[in-house]
Order: sequence, then C-alpha cells, then structure tokens
Amino acid sequence: MPSSGTPRPSRSTRSFRSTPVLIVTSLAVFLLSAAVLLPRYIFTNPTQVLPTSPAIPNSPQHPLPEDNHQPNTMGGGPITPGYRSVAYFVNWAIYGRKHRPQDLPVQNLTHILYAFANVRPESGEVYLTDTWADTDIHWEGDSWNDSGTNLYGCLKQLNILKSRNRNLKVLLSIGGWTYSSNFRQPASTHEGRENFARTAVDLLKNMGFDGLDIDWEYPSSPTEASHLVALLSTLRHHLDVYSQTLPHRPHFELTVASPAGMHNLQNMDLPGMDQYLDFWNLMAYDFAGSWDQTAGHQANLFPSPYNPQSTPFSTDAAVNHYINQGVHPSKIVLGMPLYGRAFQQTDGPGAPYSGVGEGTWENGVHDYKKLPLEGSEERYDDHAGASYCYHPGTRTMVSYDTVPLARRKAQYVVDRGLGGGMWWESSADKEGPESLIGNVVDAFGGPGALQYKENSITYPDTKYDNLRNGL
Ligand SMILES: *[C@@H]1O[C@H](CO)[C@@H](O)[C@H](O)[C@H]1NC(C)=O
Ligand SMILES: *[C@@H]1O[C@H](CO)[C@@H](O)[C@H](O)[C@H]1NC(C)=O
Repeated sequence: MPSSGTPRPSRSTRSFRSTPVLIVTSLAVFLLSAAVLLPRYIFTNPTQVLPTSPAIPNSPQHPLPEDNHQPNTMGGGPITPGYRSVAYFVNWAIYGRKHRPQDLPVQNLTHILYAFANVRPESGEVYLTDTWADTDIHWEGDSWNDSGTNLYGCLKQLNILKSRNRNLKVLLSIGGWTYSSNFRQPASTHEGRENFARTAVDLLKNMGFDGLDIDWEYPSSPTEASHLVALLSTLRHHLDVYSQTLPHRPHFELTVASPAGMHNLQNMDLPGMDQYLDFWNLMAYDFAGSWDQTAGHQANLFPSPYNPQSTPFSTDAAVNHYINQGVHPSKIVLGMPLYGRAFQQTDGPGAPYSGVGEGTWENGVHDYKKLPLEGSEERYDDHAGASYCYHPGTRTMVSYDTVPLARRKAQYVVDRGLGGGMWWESSADKEGPESLIGNVVDAFGGPGALQYKENSITYPDTKYDNLRNGL
C-alpha cells in the first residue's frame, strides 16, 4: 500500500498503480539498476536499444515460447504453445463505460481477468463485490421467468463466451489496489488462508471460472511475502483437490498481478511464488503520474539514456529482475496500459509540470480510445521505447501506448521469449485497426500465434441450474 503522502488512488486505473512511494529511494534504486542493466542491454541486443524504425512490421513466425513450465500434470484439454493475450474486465465497466462482456474482442484473447472480488479481513472469505453486475442484471436473451436458480449478469455472459470460444479462460481476480489492505490479516494465519482458498474455489465452481488471479498490492515485508507464498500454496492445493473431483480433471490456473518497481519487488519472494503460478501479469505501467515532480513516461520499455528524469522506471529492468530471480520468461505476461497519464503546463517528458487536468473517468487519466487529445501530435521516443502526445499550445503531455509502441512491445515479448501481453482494462481500447490488443496479437502473428489451452465448461457442482445444464 502507498506510504502516507501519496494520493489515495480511486478504484479504476489506480487499482494497478505501481506504488510511487519513497520517490527519492526509488529513483536511486532505478538509477543504480539502469546503470547496471543498460550497458548490458546495449551489448546483448543493440538493435532493440536503437531501432531503425519505430513501427514493427509483422513479425515472421518466431519460435513460440515453450510451455514447459506448466505445473499441470492432471489432464485437461490439449495445449499448444503460443502467446497469451490477457485483458482485465472490470465489473464497473457496464455502467458509465457502457462496456459489457458481450463487447470483448474474444477472438484475440486467451484470458479474461474478472475484477475484482474482495476479501473479508477478519475471516478471509472471498466474495463478489457487485452482485447486480456480476450475477443479476438481465440483458437481451435473458428470460425473467426461468424456473429454478439461474445465473445472469456479466458472469452468465462470460460463460456464454466460453462455450463459444473454447480457448477463452476466465479467471476471478481477487484484490486490486482498493481492496489490497484486506489480504494482510487472513494471509497471516492457517485458518485465514484455508477460508480464503475454500471460498475462492466455491466461487469458481459456482460461477464457472477457469482459475484465480491474486492482486495483492503489495506485501510490504519478508513476513508478508512468506504469507503470500503460503496463500498461493493453499490456493493451488484447493484448486487441484477440486479438479480431482471432476471427470475431465481441468487444470485451473493461478496467476498474480505483480509489480514492476524495485521498491515493491524487494519485498516479494519471487521463486517462492513461482512454483505455484501458471503465469505472472507484470503491471508494467503507472511508472509516472500525478505523484511525481516531473512529467514522465508511464510505460516505457527502457530507461532513457538522454533524459533519465523522464523514465523513473522501466519494463526491461523489471523483466530482467524476474528472470534473474529464476522466473521462466514464458511465464511473464507483459502488462500494458489502455489509458494515458497527463501532465499539464510542461515542456514534455522529464520537465516540471503543474496539474494533470480532467480525465475520462478520473483526473489526469484518459482512456486510450480518447487519445491523442485534440490538437496534439503523437511523439515517439526510440531510446526509451515510449510514446506520448503533446499539445504545444496548452503544453499538455499524455503518456500512453500508441499503435507503433504497442507493436514494438509485441516484438519485445517475442524477442525476450515472454509469455504474452496483458491489458488494463478492456473498456478503454479502440475498435478496428487502432486497437492495441488487435495490433499486438497481429504482431505476434495473428490469433493463430496465441496459446491454445482449452477452458472448462463443465461445472456439475454449481448452484446455478442454467450453468450446470450448459446455459
Ligand atoms: C414471462 O415473463 C414476461 C414478462 O417478463 C411475461 O410477459 C410472460 O407472459 C411470461 N411468460 C411465461 C410463460 O410465464
Ligand atoms: C483481432 O486482431 C486482428 C489482428 O490480428 C484484427 O484484425 C481484428 O480486428 C481483431 N478482432 C477484434 C474482434 O478485435
């Protein structure tokens, strides 16, 4: 959680903000890691540091990452290697954002992370946060006079999508920025962890999920890190025990949303966690924002050698850290923002600013589909692997991923043998040729380059008659 003095984040994008704590310390850590990593990078991979063209052409079929780190030994459907394409769907998207599960670009997704479930700090019980959105709202095609107990809302729609797209897995995401303070207490006791896992698996079997995603932002000590490892171990066990009761023995997946900043990474036991995880959703965004003294890039690939003030963090430093800690690259899924962070009255990246202005849903944060701001020009920093728009009249900069940068990130995933791409969050993408999800999948080699791993559509123990009977 943020230290005092950082702005209290609201529910949406901030749920995934890297904690901007101790700016001075972070900057020092970053400068140190940049100094260590950058020269190495130049020597090992010069073409990435100094690309000749910002746009990455359609990649030839690179060898796909091997899926040789699946803890799955228990059956389930066929698996082919390939990239994951993972999007967070937030259950509040159905309101102002007018974005429903039916609107998801499922042909280009392997996973949806359904956000967020919460945890009762006293008991560890995991529970859904908006039953009207999750299980109750009726949409076109939903009858009002079905008999029995039936599932509606977002979760019915997601199960319909799953039955039509057998490669689409839906994981229940638990926690997120706003609810993260609720993990500490239950994770610290055997009873709390058991209750957490039992109630989370109950939700899985009732609602038809394919796994769980744990978003604890963030354990803040070695003790809490060990509690997170113990929680993941308990969850893995309960998922496997439930799977063994099912005829088709599905492998229910377990993932985490994980930080990119060294300050938070220092407090985590990555090897301890890794043994229980199918993959890591690396939150490689929110590197810069309203909490900073200078305008900066929020999701750059590399530290800028010429303008270090503009890149307080970098994706590459985080990826190297995970790999150095023993995480196989194919389990790292690169998180990318579908939103921009604004800075006003600034000369641009690395320069002072004053204010962040209004945003699409909260101050200073703009949906990608509303960018670039009117009258702004899009700019691209080759060295930092960063893009933004700038309006010379209003002197407003917005840091976000443009199409050329998203395609370059796809190439980075391919070159480093990473496990795919992830986005926060699905409502903010553009449709059509400027979709960042579509462009990244295209740069991977199209939907055929995605990992194929069959979902589960058999939930015999659900309390919902329509889900049990195949909707
Ligand atoms: C189902 O409910 C609708 C109102 O939602 C009603 O008009 C209709 O008559 C009902 N049908 C049956 C078979 O009960
Ligand atoms: C999926 O991605 C392809 C590019 O690989 C794109 O052409 C297509 O429009 C995308 N589909 C959806 C539904 O977004």
